[in-house]
Amino acid sequence: MRKPFICGNWKMYKTVAEAVAFVNAAKGLVAGAAGVEIGIGAPATALKALADAAKGTNIRVGGENCHWEKEGAFTGEISPGMLAEAGCSFVIIGHSERRQYFGETDGTVNKKIKAALANGLDVILCCGETLAEREAGKTSQVVDGHVKNGLAGLDAGQMAKIVIAYEPVWAIGTGRTAAPAQAQEVHAGIRKLLTDLFGREVAEGVRIQYGGSVKPENVKEIMSQPDVDGALVGGASLKPESFAQLVNYQG
Ligand code: PGA
Repeated sequence: MRKPFICGNWKMYKTVAEAVAFVNAAKGLVAGAAGVEIGIGAPATALKALADAAKGTNIRVGGENCHWEKEGAFTGEISPGMLAEAGCSFVIIGHSERRQYFGETDGTVNKKIKAALANGLDVILCCGETLAEREAGKTSQVVDGHVKNGLAGLDAGQMAKIVIAYEPVWAIGTGRTAAPAQAQEVHAGIRKLLTDLFGREVAEGVRIQYGGSVKPENVKEIMSQPDVDGALVGGASLKPESFAQLVNYQG
């Protein structure tokens, strides 16, 4: 059985004080969520304080990006070891906003994933097509490329530390969610690819999150799809009450 993983992605929102206030407000609201893994990806400046505030709760804390080197002359970058030291247990890699605005490629994604794993972090690998790519009938080609190239060189054992987030770019922050059946179709395709790459047993264990305008009102329907094992949530993860509703989608 795959344990559902509901994860916030705060993007460039929340100061240190706001992040700590969020956890203090949310922790009691999500404490009873049995059988669900809970995480928050947050801006680098807030991570240490957020992780400290989340200690002893069921909320995991993660970075939203990292560099692949341990240290060096890379102004503005943060290494996976630094994330781990700040209290992160995972990192989001290859989000479409990073691909679109910051030159992230499958090659850098792959290097970052390997470095994150080497530093003991779990990874959420993001993939997804643009509207133009979907309309051109290229969805599975694009998504498979992101997944296959992102995971190049990994072995089956390492896949236990990988979560995949399918996030159609046209659904992110637009209020336009993929229909549950549309999401399921892509998720099933990703699992088929993982089966080809790593074998059935490994593929059946990998969690595939859906992301793109997930809200309390639609989370249950999305989560009811057989190959949807969680959600990566931007906007609706920013308020404790809404975040708690997402996490408690079963109840
Ligand atoms: P959204 O963002 O929930 O605001 O659409 C999702 C994401 O980018 O991870």
